[in-house]
Amino acid sequence: MDARGEDDDRAGGHEHHHNKQEQEEQQQEQEHQEQEQAGQGAYVPVLYASQTGTAQDTAGHVSRTLIRHHLSSAAIAMDAFHVGRLLELPVVIFVVATSGQGEAPDNMKKTWRFLLRKSLPPDSLQHLHFAVFGLGDSSYPKFNFVGKKLFKRLLSLGATPLTPIGLADDQHPLGVDGALMPWIETLLTAIRPLFPQPLSRPPIPGDKLLPPVANVIQLSADEHATLTYQQQQQQPFERPHNEAAPSRRTPARVPIKLNQRMTPEDHFQDVRHVVFDVSSANLPYAPGDVLYVMPENTSESVDAILDWFGVDGAMLVRVQVDDEAVATSLPALPDRLSFRDLLTHYLDIQAVPKRYFFEILASFAADEMQSEKLREFTAAEGQEARYDYVNRMKRTAIEILRDFLSAKGRVPVAYAADMFGFMQPRAFSICLQSAGLNTKTFLHAGEIHTAVAIVNYRTRMATPRRGVYTNWLKTLQPDTMFVFGNRNAAADFLYGDEWRALEHRGLLTLVLAFSRDQEHKVYVQHKMREHAGAIYSAIARGAYILLAGSSGNMPKQVREAFVDIIQQEGGKTAKEAEAMVKDMERTGRYTCETWD
Ligand SMILES: Cc1cc2nc3c(=O)[nH]c(=O)nc-3n(C[C@H](O)[C@H](O)[C@H](O)COP(=O)(O)O)c2cc1C
Repeated sequence: MDARGEDDDRAGGHEHHHNKQEQEEQQQEQEHQEQEQAGQGAYVPVLYASQTGTAQDTAGHVSRTLIRHHLSSAAIAMDAFHVGRLLELPVVIFVVATSGQGEAPDNMKKTWRFLLRKSLPPDSLQHLHFAVFGLGDSSYPKFNFVGKKLFKRLLSLGATPLTPIGLADDQHPLGVDGALMPWIETLLTAIRPLFPQPLSRPPIPGDKLLPPVANVIQLSADEHATLTYQQQQQQPFERPHNEAAPSRRTPARVPIKLNQRMTPEDHFQDVRHVVFDVSSANLPYAPGDVLYVMPENTSESVDAILDWFGVDGAMLVRVQVDDEAVATSLPALPDRLSFRDLLTHYLDIQAVPKRYFFEILASFAADEMQSEKLREFTAAEGQEARYDYVNRMKRTAIEILRDFLSAKGRVPVAYAADMFGFMQPRAFSICLQSAGLNTKTFLHAGEIHTAVAIVNYRTRMATPRRGVYTNWLKTLQPDTMFVFGNRNAAADFLYGDEWRALEHRGLLTLVLAFSRDQEHKVYVQHKMREHAGAIYSAIARGAYILLAGSSGNMPKQVREAFVDIIQQEGGKTAKEAEAMVKDMERTGRYTCETWD
């Protein structure tokens, strides 16, 4: 009886709950409809076309401005946006750069081809209101060519412009911001009649931070337990073996075959001949193509940022992006990765930071004066001050963080990706010997040759400015390191001339340990530790280790050195480092050939 009574009660409770839920849903639906009618929460995407990231950053700013005015918005790469939605949405904003000689950036090419179709009726976009902000440089003959062409094409398809086209010019003393600030004001005025309800409300103030778009979330132990073995082992930029050709989102790791300085050592400029081995990468290319390379940040800058956040680099994170189209606009990330790997391979921590960096920093600075100064940099009136402080001197994020120490340890890692943005790949012309070359037969099949000038220059800042990519590249060696140890160089350097010749040709990094050539004994494991950074970086990139020599203590000591190096350089625990080496042994990436 009792039990049934309870059941009945529960059933009654359910019924009651059900009614209440229905009422709430109805109410929500009604509110939603009212909001829709007034434009509240209406979706206004900001589509960008960007070759080197400036238009992407600008689109982020425009989209955040719309969100602050109670619209729903996201910055999306044009080709990541389903073009069919242009036929449904009432308002779309475009932010497009011009690249090449008046060419469209790669991430709008697909959409642009669609919009240029002759078969599109002239009234296809009759329902659409749009605005275009172009980014360009008036020192090019085809100034803002792509923005202007897009504007005209949208007009010819029947769409209605909200504002005249905005034209940013790199030559403006304030860069893009020179044209952006007034253009946004015009846009907000023009958009108001379309969405009267949200735009008549006071905007979300600048000192209230919006939720992160690319949210860096620390993995809980439970979440970690649900990962498959493959997910746990996934390395940055790892690709399934049978994947299609590499792309901007999913680049391929390829070995470097040669990295040789072409200019004399005492010459002011270090220009290198760099050869990439792309034979395994399914990377078709033809003369005139450009090679895009993702750089790595230096371990010093990664350490500085880790220290600044006050977190352990081994912390496992995932990056959550709720909007699918936004996620497709960003580099494809592993399902989980260490915070150190995120900083090393993906986030633009060595760059001159953009405006949003200051907005985030301002929200967390403890010192009132510092926070005020940072806010000034983000306001329309403060653009000149920010330009003076940041861009003129090419101050890097790390230098700026040192100036605003009261925010140290206070910014949640959740904002790390939004704060620094994602690194952009660097483009290089491909140079090949042209004799006898046609598009079908290459003289250097499976290789891509580039000539790279290393970027180092001084501003009034104490430390010289260094190009992130070219200086990283300079440190890269062909992916073979040969560590050789014996008693003394004069008698025991077997095949020494040949090893030296390979080293001279840039095909090998040679590390030598002659135990008796000095007072104290120096063995291979000591020398390995001196090259810990390069060794770990090679392991992280999938290196194979082949160990050969006497079967005494050496194999054990060398193995210990590898575990230590992985632990120290990879920010891993001893257990994780040990597991990594075990896994390499299991999968044939660590093999030993030893003898008595
Ligand atoms: C290789 C290259 C070619 C460019 N060609 C043009 C051009 O033809 N016309 C123009 O107005 N701007 C040109 N620009 C300037 C860019 O449009 C401008 O720097 C813009 O801010 C870059 O935006 P993004 O970083 O989003 O690609 C060029 C810039 C580069 C680096």
